[in-house]
Amino acid sequence: MTEHASTAGGDRVVIFDTTLRDGEQCPGASMTFDEKLQVAELLDDMGVDIIEAGFPIASQGDFESVQEIARRAKNATIAGLSRASFKDIDRCGEAVKVAGKPRIHTFISTSPIHMKHKLQMEPETVLQHVIDSVGRARNWVDDVEWSAEDGTRTDLDFLCRCVEAAIKAGATTINIPDTVGYTTPAEYRELFRQVRERVPNADKAVFSVHCHNDLGMAVANSLAGVEGGARQIECTINGIGERAGNAALEEIVMAIKTRGDVLPYEVGVETTMLMRASKIVSAVTSFPVQYNKAIVGRNAFAHESGIHQDGMLKNNQTYEIMTPESVGVKSTSLVMGKHSGRHAFKEKLKELGYSLGDNALQDAFRRFKDLADRKKIVYDEDIEALIDDEILAAHDRIKVVALTVIAGTGGPQKATMTLDIDGQRHTREATGNGPVDATFNAIKELVPHEAKLELYQVHAVTQGTDAQAEVSVRLGGGGRSFTGRGADPDTLVSSARAYVHALNKLMSMQDRLHSQHSKAETA
Ligand code: KIV
Ligand code: ZN
Repeated sequence: MTEHASTAGGDRVVIFDTTLRDGEQCPGASMTFDEKLQVAELLDDMGVDIIEAGFPIASQGDFESVQEIARRAKNATIAGLSRASFKDIDRCGEAVKVAGKPRIHTFISTSPIHMKHKLQMEPETVLQHVIDSVGRARNWVDDVEWSAEDGTRTDLDFLCRCVEAAIKAGATTINIPDTVGYTTPAEYRELFRQVRERVPNADKAVFSVHCHNDLGMAVANSLAGVEGGARQIECTINGIGERAGNAALEEIVMAIKTRGDVLPYEVGVETTMLMRASKIVSAVTSFPVQYNKAIVGRNAFAHESGIHQDGMLKNNQTYEIMTPESVGVKSTSLVMGKHSGRHAFKEKLKELGYSLGDNALQDAFRRFKDLADRKKIVYDEDIEALIDDEILAAHDRIKVVALTVIAGTGGPQKATMTLDIDGQRHTREATGNGPVDATFNAIKELVPHEAKLELYQVHAVTQGTDAQAEVSVRLGGGGRSFTGRGADPDTLVSSARAYVHALNKLMSMQDRLHSQHSKAETA
């Protein structure tokens, strides 16, 4: 049994986060190396038991990020995903072996439709792959998870044979995913009950749920699987993932914490960090969080109607089943004004959960002063947007220095842009069909590129006409997409920052590929 299983006792449920693997796999959600490290660090600090850091065979970049996350992890087990081939497993073993607690997660499809059309293998060959792949993974690590892809559409007898063989070959966790989001709570609960009852060595492994949200039942199905005896839940922050996404970590954790009376399980996640995790994942992927999303949506704790407000004022339990503070939502507080000093600012950052080095602190303080000069009220959300912007752009080769835009009814709109490119300042003018177009054209003049604009999105960080605008821009190039983000009270400055940020990511990927090529040529 794994360490998690033994600490799990009867009712400890292990949280396995796959934001960096299944979440990142969905189109448009790709993250850079630094962003992955940032998310992994937060998950680790938050008490997530297992972080699935990536799919090492997928690319050199994936391999390196899994390895670095494995190296840096303080408490969490670090898992890497691999298919059933020895080449995949060895690459995965190489990446995770530096972790204090490494895990190899290997999978193969077991449903008739997948075996016939995707794998083009007979069931007996699949069974042999299960045995061989788990055995190979055990040569690298003691902690091996085996998954039956499309498990919920698999013949029960065959599933039981595979599970038994996987455990016999050394798998310590058995995952039965609802890969296509097809199951229902009652069916999934029963599946776990039956498999655990029928498989003779079932007590030697921890069972795991992994649910996709195609019918909107991923969280309900996951919890039902736990009722059926599973003790590991695979999920992602904000529920990001393939198609309709995966089960949302924050919803699962809060359901267990809030309904202990009917879900008598323990989870180790620090719930006050959920909101921060949601914001970071949304920022780095630029997947907005739906306003009415449970737990972390902007309206999740808003009480607009008069009747509700009246009830809340008399007793907040009238309409609140959990407090906003318990998930890290602070009542919007007035921060500091333009007279606030560096010390107060540093204290505020600490309270918000940031720790910046001296140089980053200096830059952030300068931007805070600038913001406080321009904006009447500076809220916690403003500071968070500003710091996230600063952290995300810290390693950028290109930076926005100045922007002047002439806009209005007269047209054409004109932008004059100054960028710092590798330490040198350059200025260009460009016109466009509107001020945003003119701004982006000026950037293209300064940094010629072929990338296409795939998404442009603006939202206000707080209320009021002087609110900061947070802009997301997605650029596509070379078969991949990169998302950038910028925040500023001036929407055009945020737009420029977001575009330049995305461009930096794209160029850093191109630089990486280029240096790999050169290394390969000189080897
Ligand atoms: O959905 C799925 O089946 C998966 C497996 C690789 C675990 O993500
Ligand atoms: Zn999945």
